[in-house]
Amino acid sequence: MAGPDSILVDFNHPVMVGKENEYMAQAIAAAKFSGDGSFTRKVSALLEQQLGIPKVLLTTSCTHALEMFALLMDIQPGDEVIVPSYTFVSTINAFVLRGARPVFIDIRSDTLNLDESRLEELITPATKAILPVHYAGVGCEMDAILTIASQHHVAVAEDNAHGLYGKYKGRFLGTFGVLAAQSFHETKNFTCGEGGALLINNPALVERAEIIREKGTNRSRFFRGQVDKYTWMDVGSSYLPSDLLAAFLYAQLEQREKIQAHRKKVWNFYHEHLHDWAFSHAVQLPCIPVYCDQAYHMYYMLLPTLALRQGLISHLRQRGIESVFHYLPLHLSEMGRRFGGKIGDCPVTEHVSDQLIRLPFHNSLSEDDLEKVVKAVLEFNFQIA
Ligand SMILES: Cc1ncc(COP(=O)(O)O)c(C=O)c1O
Repeated sequence: MAGPDSILVDFNHPVMVGKENEYMAQAIAAAKFSGDGSFTRKVSALLEQQLGIPKVLLTTSCTHALEMFALLMDIQPGDEVIVPSYTFVSTINAFVLRGARPVFIDIRSDTLNLDESRLEELITPATKAILPVHYAGVGCEMDAILTIASQHHVAVAEDNAHGLYGKYKGRFLGTFGVLAAQSFHETKNFTCGEGGALLINNPALVERAEIIREKGTNRSRFFRGQVDKYTWMDVGSSYLPSDLLAAFLYAQLEQREKIQAHRKKVWNFYHEHLHDWAFSHAVQLPCIPVYCDQAYHMYYMLLPTLALRQGLISHLRQRGIESVFHYLPLHLSEMGRRFGGKIGDCPVTEHVSDQLIRLPFHNSLSEDDLEKVVKAVLEFNFQIA
């Protein structure tokens, strides 16, 4: 049996899947190491065409795309933003940086997406935005969210870090909100190590987004020959990634079919082989509504108790299998409590955060790896934990 330190199956293991080396070499040969070179343009054009949206701007991370949301929405101190407590810190930190007050919403117990039935009670005259996070790449209830938002004149912007190529009722995630953010971090389906994208669904925001991304200047227009010099136009920062990273990412995106087919196989393997075991041990497996095409980003399970979840993580570690949990409820974090968060505000989030375990999920898992993981899970002794 493997000791606790010898990992046989990694939780995540980023790999090259196509022409990453070749395209990086081309980017180097082109002597354009900074941002917005030919590979950046290729990635943007590809995503715009595939998703059918007006503008995609590559960013240095999803976090930075979210920071651009807050700048583009003119978030001011005191503005309220509704965000699930069950998400990564960047979803809301980007807004708190501009002085916004987070208003934490609980999640649904089936998809773990924000509970749209709680939205109306949280909207106030200070609400500026609602931030749906498509958890695990499964679409939030966008029909209800968009209806409520438009009744109250509140903007919707999507954190789609997990959900590239996922769909809700036949329409790509990331195309519903006025803005959406993607992540190309190494834990995502498609990666360049660290990277992200801002998806702009309202063409009126494109020009200002380009300025914010380029240090508050109109350098993008200058490079396109639309102005003869560039200057300081607005607030902004440096949110554009090197073209070397875009070259790597383009090679990954070219392999969309291969990557997604592999991830679908991984997801289905876990789901089929763990179904009966889960049923007989009161373990909740992911729920994918029939009208959602998921993005195959992760495989999670909800154990009945915290002790069982922790027990399963250490049982798997003993067998050389890395598994992880996340997210800690944001409303109960040190920062969340400063905004008034307290136990009981988001009961489903608090419960799920104790129960959830994520199994190894990446682009180089072999059938042998999957068999090892499933065998180890099935051997977990519920009596001991
Ligand atoms: C829901 C969500 N939003 C945002 C992020 C931040 O992504 P990035 O690391 O690209 O900034 C993550 C990271 O995993 C995430 O899970």
